Amino acid sequence: MLEQAELRAAARRILTSNDRGGYTVPTHGLYPYQWNWDSAFVALGFSTFDVGRAVTELESLFEGQWINGMVPHIIFRADERSYFPGPSVWRANHSPPTSGITQPSVAASVAWQLWQKADDESDQRRLRALFPKLMASHRWFHQFRDPDHLGIVVMTHPWESGRDNSPEWDEPMANVDTSRVEPYQRRDLDHADASMRPTQAQYDCFVALLQFGRECGWDAAAIGRTSPLRVADVGMSMIHLRANRDLQAMASALGEDEASREIALWIARGEQGAQLLWDPARAAFCSRDLITGKPSGYVTSASFLAHYAGVGSSDQRAALREHWSRISARCSFMCPSFDPEETKFDSYRYWRGPIWAVVNFLIAKGMAEAGETQAAHRLGDDMRALIAAGGFREAFDPITGAGTGGDLFSWTAAMYLAWLDSAND
Ligand code: DGY
Repeated sequence: MLEQAELRAAARRILTSNDRGGYTVPTHGLYPYQWNWDSAFVALGFSTFDVGRAVTELESLFEGQWINGMVPHIIFRADERSYFPGPSVWRANHSPPTSGITQPSVAASVAWQLWQKADDESDQRRLRALFPKLMASHRWFHQFRDPDHLGIVVMTHPWESGRDNSPEWDEPMANVDTSRVEPYQRRDLDHADASMRPTQAQYDCFVALLQFGRECGWDAAAIGRTSPLRVADVGMSMIHLRANRDLQAMASALGEDEASREIALWIARGEQGAQLLWDPARAAFCSRDLITGKPSGYVTSASFLAHYAGVGSSDQRAALREHWSRISARCSFMCPSFDPEETKFDSYRYWRGPIWAVVNFLIAKGMAEAGETQAAHRLGDDMRALIAAGGFREAFDPITGAGTGGDLFSWTAAMYLAWLDSAND
């Protein structure tokens, strides 16, 4: 087992070797481009030893921002044969080429953390220049991914949630017509075992939804209102509410009073929206299918982002504590991405069970802030133990601790560094 100093050095090496010149790929082969929320987390990792490079990561991410404000989920810098679907499939008509959907909006929270670390005047200037772009991306969410102003984030493709094959999407995805999917060849299985990845039926649905967006000409209003998949995602909604709080803190620090007032309305609405996601029958925050109106009824790691978002009454938090103890009793390591007491739990398959360092990091941050220190420490200790034994893998089996998915993974390395850094604050 490696010691902390060796692991820290290894984590830095991963970030620098996945750096493709101002942007960082999640991992070689499986994900050969710049991914949206990966890059934001990577920036946090870089900020532990090079704040300027961290700012560059956010700047390069926003090079992909669309005129309507959306920050796409992938920015394609080259047409790599190792990945499907590439730019010629998305046909999003943007330079640099991008996908046509977004991902969880962690960028503002990261920018706020970088601002607090930036001593250098030029880094401060660069972060200040990012502020209007962050505002535009949040406005896009409020206009197009919450058209009824419910205070939630509507996901129109499972890849937007980042939790691609969570069982929460099984029912909503079953209603998506896949009969017109054009022939395609998956590339992910050239790099990772099929037992760790989404199924073929799920891929057909991913491609059907991509084709739907493409047929809409990537018109955000049409997609937000008519996509055959419209789910209020707990993960995206909680992360976005927190991002609004952090964006407001940044607005105050920059003296952006008008922006601050606009963000205050978004926060108030987001607090109400979180309550729409409370499922009394499950006593948890669950995603909700907006087409059928049905809550998923599933507890996932995203349910525990309530503290991070700053929501939850004392009764709701007590209910979450019960779920936490029930789930902890079933796992050697916390926090599984899906409830281990459910039949759909699969400890090895992507977002149907494995532990993800980035979600753990956010849950732990929220729990520590809310005074749930035992749970927060457990997450940190488990993450360090998993990495020390299994390396910087994409995700980890919560029962056996085995690594799953890609290796030498940027965001796992970044979270390791960020965790060490926060322990030293
Ligand atoms: C993939 O291709 O597996 C990605 O998760 C899409 O964002």
